[in-house]
Amino acid sequence: MGTKNYQTVKVEKDNGITWVTLNRPEKRNAMNPQLHYDMLDALTELETDKETQVVVLTGAGEAWCAGQDLREYFRATDNNPVERRRASWASQEWRWRRLFTFPKPTIAMVNGYCFGGAFTPLIACDFAIAAEDAIFGLSEINWGIFPGGLVSRVLADALSYRDALYYIMTGDPFDGKKAAELKLVNFAVPKAKLKDETVKLAKKLMEKNPQTLRAAKEVYKFCRTMDYAQAEDYMSAKGIALRATDPEKGREEGTKQFLDEKSFRPGLGAYQRKKS
Ligand code: COA
Repeated sequence: MGTKNYQTVKVEKDNGITWVTLNRPEKRNAMNPQLHYDMLDALTELETDKETQVVVLTGAGEAWCAGQDLREYFRATDNNPVERRRASWASQEWRWRRLFTFPKPTIAMVNGYCFGGAFTPLIACDFAIAAEDAIFGLSEINWGIFPGGLVSRVLADALSYRDALYYIMTGDPFDGKKAAELKLVNFAVPKAKLKDETVKLAKKLMEKNPQTLRAAKEVYKFCRTMDYAQAEDYMSAKGIALRATDPEKGREEGTKQFLDEKSFRPGLGAYQRKKS
């Protein structure tokens, strides 16, 4: 599949990793309606794109994403309910529903500013790696609103009660190192190493069985809000579905390589996948 061109997003494919770059650097990659439409289209394409094994979401220039565009997303649609509804739907659709349930691993590579509405895609991604000097902030309180959209809801999944309320109510900015301490990101590295560390993680993920990876993230993410009986039943059905549909029959292969061939130890690494 070729790579589409968008006004506000850049999509580049490189050996299984697809780099999706929010591309309005002059506006610090603030999300205007066009960016929401572009991202929704890009993610829809990449879900089924055979060349894409891992998606990395990053930002052009010095920002990752400065949140919703106050001029084009908010003020320009205040008196245009149809456009506001369209933009708001696209915004929630890609930032939460598509990304949260994306069928392949997703990594937020936070290269710089990350504010307000940008926390939704940040938390929706499976992993986040930040530059140590990236600046994060729930800046809404500073300009007269609360973290809306889904931000306050998703924060409840990603920060402790105390930390979430602290940053929601003070709007204090914090850096990548602090974000790692808060576990909002997996780790923070010097900016010069950000890309290498992201590629290293993506390569590790590409060694695993993709069907199993997909099931594993779905099971974890969906079971969080189920009660125990529902979760047990869901996981049992999901396990059967995975065995029935996995094209590389991972469970059988892994078991054979460990028990019969004694060629690997599951505790220490993944079974050897056959190259297709
Ligand atoms: N909405 C609309 N425009 C934005 C924006 C946003 N969220 N963030 C940045 N921009 C625009 C600025 O208006 C400016 O546009 P202009 O050149 O036409 O005047 C341009 O991007 C550069 O911004 P500037 O403030 O000059 O850059 P900076 O590097 O000095 O500061 C930020 C960067 C991100 C700290 C600052 O722009 C900022 O605080 N943005 C708002 C962040 C926010 O509160 N987001 C939450 C929204 S939910």
